[in-house]
Amino acid sequence: MNILILGSGGREHALAWAVMQNPKCDKLIVAPGNAGIAQIADCAALDIENGTAVVSFAEENAIDFVIIGPEAPLAAGVADRLRAAGLLVFGPSEAAARLEASKSFTKEVCDAAGAPTAAYGHFTDAEAAKAHVRQHGAPTVVKADGLAAGKGVIIAMSEEEAIAAIDDMFGGAFGGAGAEVVIEEFMEGEEASLFVLVDGEDVLAIGSAQDHKRVGEGDTGPNTGGMGAYSPAPVLSAEIEAKAMEEIVKPTMRVMAERGMPYQGVLYAGLMIKDGQPRLVEYNVRFGDPECQVLMLRLGAQALDLMHAAAEGRLADAQVNWADDHAITVVLAAQGYPGGYEKGTEIKGLDALPEDSSNMVFHAGTKSEDGKILAVGGRVLNVTARGDTLQEARDRAYAMIDEIDWPQGFHRRDIGWRAL
Ligand code: AMP
Ligand code: GLY
Repeated sequence: MNILILGSGGREHALAWAVMQNPKCDKLIVAPGNAGIAQIADCAALDIENGTAVVSFAEENAIDFVIIGPEAPLAAGVADRLRAAGLLVFGPSEAAARLEASKSFTKEVCDAAGAPTAAYGHFTDAEAAKAHVRQHGAPTVVKADGLAAGKGVIIAMSEEEAIAAIDDMFGGAFGGAGAEVVIEEFMEGEEASLFVLVDGEDVLAIGSAQDHKRVGEGDTGPNTGGMGAYSPAPVLSAEIEAKAMEEIVKPTMRVMAERGMPYQGVLYAGLMIKDGQPRLVEYNVRFGDPECQVLMLRLGAQALDLMHAAAEGRLADAQVNWADDHAITVVLAAQGYPGGYEKGTEIKGLDALPEDSSNMVFHAGTKSEDGKILAVGGRVLNVTARGDTLQEARDRAYAMIDEIDWPQGFHRRDIGWRAL
């Protein structure tokens, strides 16, 4: 099979790594890719949000299967364009991708499905939104309806904060994403993510993870795209996972199919768990980054077979072969992230690190120049390890990090604390 992966982050490096373990992969191209991906696959410059360009590229390169990593091409309908051209794709249609691209859409589908989630109101003008806040009080959660790169959610501990967030959103702080606002009940509990493959009809859970969104140790400081993750998430016991599948995932997937927009790809269910009951926080229509890195290290080559089965509608016969293992990934970021940071600093010491089925450094924001690896993003490396226990995996990851020479980078030393 000739395979094309769209994307350029640590998630796509991990997907590429897993795909390359599988002998069914004859040729792999990742567009646009990064310096780490270029060490294991061909990389190609391509505007991945331009459906016409992606279809032409896939046809010219005799691609059999396209795996779409990030949400932006999905929300732009690239999967639809590829399918219309007769290509096999892993990733939902533009219509189904609204489960991530529109929070009010998701809330309404959950209502129709009877899926447990936070109570909410949906507003297109600031005054009505503020009246809702005054009526329901704080704490509350104010969300820009559209895609805001993970930044459009404000947890407001007071009414004043909520009202300021409403003014910001309707004032254009999140561009078009904030033209509509969802205000939700604040849910308490412990968060975990469940990853489920869906083929339009059947579903298959492929693992759980927890990430660390805050930049600082002890889960403090501003939110980031994720500073580390581990899998499995101990809070998602088999019983709670089964509840999440029966009460949340399956009913919402049924509603999507009934409405003529069957979901195909990976569904990332962000859950809040309290007193043994999961409730949906959000759906994403792609793998999490960095959660994908730990899932791929655990799944290995079978990840390709599973994604292929989802794309071909064969999940009813598919199963996951789990080792009883744990994986962790620690993000190395450029100093200053998630604010401004320097680009082009050199990272040394990567060549000496082990690369095997228990130790992998996935690249997120790197480029290679004159034989050097340079940091060019905020989140730069994902040092990922696997072990029989989380502690063993964690020790391996931090041992690798200690060999990396990058004075302009930083990382959290406490990834996995909640589970340990
Ligand atoms: P989202 O982009 O919807 O995942 O929101 C980002 C983060 O905000 C989540 O991962 C939660 O930590 C938090 N969050 C979102 N909605 C709620 C809610 N209704 N109650 C409590 N926390 C929430
Ligand atoms: N790590 C969170 C996300 O990918 O949305």
